Amino acid sequence: MSAVGLLGEIAGVGRGRGGYSRHVFDRAEGELRAWFAERAERIGLDVETDRNGNLWAWWGTPGPDALVTGSHLDSVPGGGAFDGPLGVVSALDAVAALQAEGFRPGKPLAVLVFAEEEGGRFGVPCLGSRLLTGSIDAGKARALRDQDGVTFAEAAARAGFDPERFGRDEVALSRIGTFLELHVEQGRGLVDLGSPVAVGSTVIAHGRWRFSFSGQGNHAGATLMGDRHDPMVPAAAVVAAARRIASKVEGARATVGRLIPRPGGTNVIASTVDLWLDARVTGEDRVRPLVDEIADAAGKAAAEEGCEIRLSEESYGGTVAFDAGLREELRALLGGAPELPTGAGHDAAILSGHTRAGMLYVRNPTGISHAPEEFAEDEDVEHGARALAEALRHLST
Ligand code: GLV
Ligand code: MN
Ligand code: MN
Ligand code: MN
Repeated sequence: MSAVGLLGEIAGVGRGRGGYSRHVFDRAEGELRAWFAERAERIGLDVETDRNGNLWAWWGTPGPDALVTGSHLDSVPGGGAFDGPLGVVSALDAVAALQAEGFRPGKPLAVLVFAEEEGGRFGVPCLGSRLLTGSIDAGKARALRDQDGVTFAEAAARAGFDPERFGRDEVALSRIGTFLELHVEQGRGLVDLGSPVAVGSTVIAHGRWRFSFSGQGNHAGATLMGDRHDPMVPAAAVVAAARRIASKVEGARATVGRLIPRPGGTNVIASTVDLWLDARVTGEDRVRPLVDEIADAAGKAAAEEGCEIRLSEESYGGTVAFDAGLREELRALLGGAPELPTGAGHDAAILSGHTRAGMLYVRNPTGISHAPEEFAEDEDVEHGARALAEALRHLST
């Protein structure tokens, strides 16, 4: 069982011409869950799902102070092959390698697959870990809707989960003594450092905001320019303001990657536009002031166009620094591997407010992620799996 081989086994699942689309409780993600359970059982792990749709595979009896490793199997729309699955296949590989040596962990060890890490279907990222830790209200989570109007509660129920049981899971949470997530790097940090792996240091403060504009749907030819209430105009102002304002703030990134005009006809002035702003700032927490500035620009543009604006914060997480002691242990163990901050969000960051958590990154030569060009060389994948095995051996003794 090699990490590269395992990645190969799932390479065809959810792959389209524009990359991978694997979303919580859809067909592709269901196929990956079944594949994971089969693979984990084949190496003698006991597979269970928790109340919030996360998958656990236990080596030894579940219990407190467990060493837990894993990541996620869902993707963004049009994503790459590594973001998420790399941490899962590396965990299976590392466990199998330790078993093959006859190693016996001194504490329970589990591989954990989180549900809806990307928020690709229901909008809130790290939904599985937020629910597990009680970082999101269960009622709010149940009511989240996908683009077809299906609620998270409905989708979960169809997949066999009881949405009434969603919420902070004391039993599951209290079992995690340490959580370690291996992940493909999502920028060029490791390429520049010339290293195959790094230890995670910090996770950027970030969140998602929904802007909803409503105007007057109308005829593209018969409506004079001065007579329009076109919600695309303030929507465009958000895109422009995000670029302009974030470019002036050190360490800031602001993105509008999703925008839905309705009804969406070439010869139709839209009646509503929904768009989502992803905003992040390194270091001190300056995300909400940045969003406020963008929202001011949006409000002015909406007023000028005679449109209504509604703004809601869909998710938010402050800056996270992973456990200092764990970071030091991992660096020493990995021959002085470099530390790396990240501009990406992770379940490990959600858990870090509740338990000891850390991350390992594997070099991505393209520096591109959330796109089909995301990559890791086989050699680096194997290097990462071996590094994870070393870390598990050390941390479970
Ligand atoms: C998750 O990958 C995120 O940072 O959006
Ligand atoms: Mn192996
Ligand atoms: Mn991602
Ligand atoms: Mn990820």
